[in-house]
Amino acid sequence: MKKRLLVTGCGGFVAGSILKQAGNEWKLFGVSRSAVPGGRSDLTHLQFDLCDFSRLREVFADIRPAAVIHTAAKADIDRSQANQAETEIVNVGVTQQLITLCRDHGTKMVFCSTDAVFDGKKGNYNEEDPPHAVNFYADTKIRCEQLVQKELNDAVVARLALVAGLPMLGAGNSFLAKMIASFEQNKPVMAPVNEIRTPIDVVTLGQALLELAGNDFAGIIHLAGNTPLNRYDMSCQIATTLGFPTALVIRTNSADDKNRAPRPADATMNNTKARRVLKTRMLDFADGLRLTLGTKEK
Ligand SMILES: NC(=O)c1ccc[n+]([C@@H]2O[C@H](COP(=O)([O-])OP(=O)(O)OC[C@H]3O[C@@H](n4cnc5c(N)ncnc54)[C@H](OP(=O)(O)O)[C@@H]3O)[C@@H](O)[C@H]2O)c1
Repeated sequence: MKKRLLVTGCGGFVAGSILKQAGNEWKLFGVSRSAVPGGRSDLTHLQFDLCDFSRLREVFADIRPAAVIHTAAKADIDRSQANQAETEIVNVGVTQQLITLCRDHGTKMVFCSTDAVFDGKKGNYNEEDPPHAVNFYADTKIRCEQLVQKELNDAVVARLALVAGLPMLGAGNSFLAKMIASFEQNKPVMAPVNEIRTPIDVVTLGQALLELAGNDFAGIIHLAGNTPLNRYDMSCQIATTLGFPTALVIRTNSADDKNRAPRPADATMNNTKARRVLKTRMLDFADGLRLTLGTKEK
């Protein structure tokens, strides 16, 4: 019999990759507030607000999933900083409800956290390094991580690096899609040279999250690419790969922008553990970029 997989935030960027790539061993369920475009006819789509906890409980009891990949969140750092009450209920409140449901139903949770849990003073963070938030979004994610680890024995806290890629189903929060749209209109792209990341392509990320939903791994794991890059160099590499002039990439320093919530400077993550425990291969940035650009509809 197929295992049941529930994906929260199923209209989002990361969820699109999970749902598009999920193999035949899974019976797929997805929750989102907005409608989800087609592309996966075997997906049972449930359209409701996850903050409706009584509906969530009913749905969960009905599906009894073997695993949940919890991607839904208020994931825009600046909007989260400005709308803290809403971010609190979606990021922490919903996660707390899902933890209780996973515990009651024996469901494995894969929680999507972030490299932003680190303050960016050190870089090359491994899973044992202590998190320290520099903005409200990160603060909510750290508290969720702690709840997941305290209340569930078999859960995964997957810390996602900056996700590079094109949406595979739905749209969501893809910086690469926005960057390409700007390049195509000959518009400049601002790229902070002071923010260093280990970007992961969305295709590899979807495969890794599916693997974690189906295997026995429990604990924290860093899902990150092999190549540390500052966002200016990353943007120039993207422009060059796509045949656009690097003059369209404007070098900035995000610390000078007082309208942006604080960001960690060097949030690079060490992916040694992921390379050791996962069958999914973590890639160099150039290879990941090629892989995700290959999914673009011609
Ligand atoms: N993208 C990155 O670079 C990155 C990096 C590190 C970590 N992450 C984490 O990875 C996860 C997925 O990120 P993403 O880039 O895929 O974000 P995204 O495209 O913004 O997707 C998040 C989804 O959550 C859903 N959602 C939010 N509030 C909801 C609610 N109350 N009820 C139901 N659905 C709700 C949204 O759907 P509706 O619009 O339908 O409400 C949205 O589609 C997030 O937890 C994020 O923090 C992302």
